[in-house]
Amino acid sequence: MNMALQDKITRCWDERSAVYDNQYGHGLKSEEEKIAWQETLKESVGAGSLRILDVGTGTGFLALLLAELGHRCSGVDLSQEMLQQAQKKARQAGLKIDFRSGDAENLPFKDSSFDVVINRHLLWTLPRPEAALREWVRALKPGGRLIIIDGRWAAPDISTKVKRLAGNCLIALAERRNPWKWKGHYGKEIQKQLPFMGGAGPDKIVPLLEAAGLTDVSIQPLTRVMEAQKAAMPLRYRLVYAHRRYLVTGRKPE
Ligand SMILES: C[S@@+](CC[C@H](N)C(=O)[O-])C[C@H]1O[C@@H](n2cnc3c(N)ncnc32)[C@H](O)[C@@H]1O
Repeated sequence: MNMALQDKITRCWDERSAVYDNQYGHGLKSEEEKIAWQETLKESVGAGSLRILDVGTGTGFLALLLAELGHRCSGVDLSQEMLQQAQKKARQAGLKIDFRSGDAENLPFKDSSFDVVINRHLLWTLPRPEAALREWVRALKPGGRLIIIDGRWAAPDISTKVKRLAGNCLIALAERRNPWKWKGHYGKEIQKQLPFMGGAGPDKIVPLLEAAGLTDVSIQPLTRVMEAQKAAMPLRYRLVYAHRRYLVTGRKPE
């Protein structure tokens, strides 16, 4: 990735690291949400002690859940500050996870290292998603599985937009804070270099997986997780988080 752009993106996440987990949809907010994530991950990742890479791990959300399920996890991220939060959480939970600094487009791992490569909410912030996907497939073992968890926050339908506006206005009134604080955090210069800015639905993700040569591509709505998340939210947040999220997977041919 172009180094100036990479530095700017890294700085944004360094700044956000201390409060990242507070936001709904980022850190876990209830035991029910944790169970919903673990059940969803068990179904798509499988059992055993697999070698799993969480790309753009941030504060280690997926790596921690997967390590708790017994897998051997690594996590890569550009932001040292996000990684420090992840390391702190792993220490507190008594989990051993290999967190490293690195770029999703140029992973610090050999070919065919992992049974599963996974990520959540990463595609939107990549300037070259196709190149990143080729890199993730390179790091997968033959027969290994790529799992992408994503959604479209900048939802195209009017009803979702109206709900979000109403929810954000209620947050501003009830909590006396600016709910749009992080919206323009990247700034227009960075945003225009990101083809999936606003999130990616299956219509965008599936062709990427197929172009990278993956087979058995399938889409699963994150229904159970979304229901558990909503149950822990006040109404104003349920209005804001009305967009759909998905898990898309594909297999690297043997
Ligand atoms: C929205 S956060 C998602 C964090 C985590 N995956 C989660 O689900 O909570 C995006 C993360 O991707 C990281 N990131 C952005 N571009 C990256 C890149 N090219 N390589 C590695 N990490 C990157 C950021 O530093 C940030 O931690």
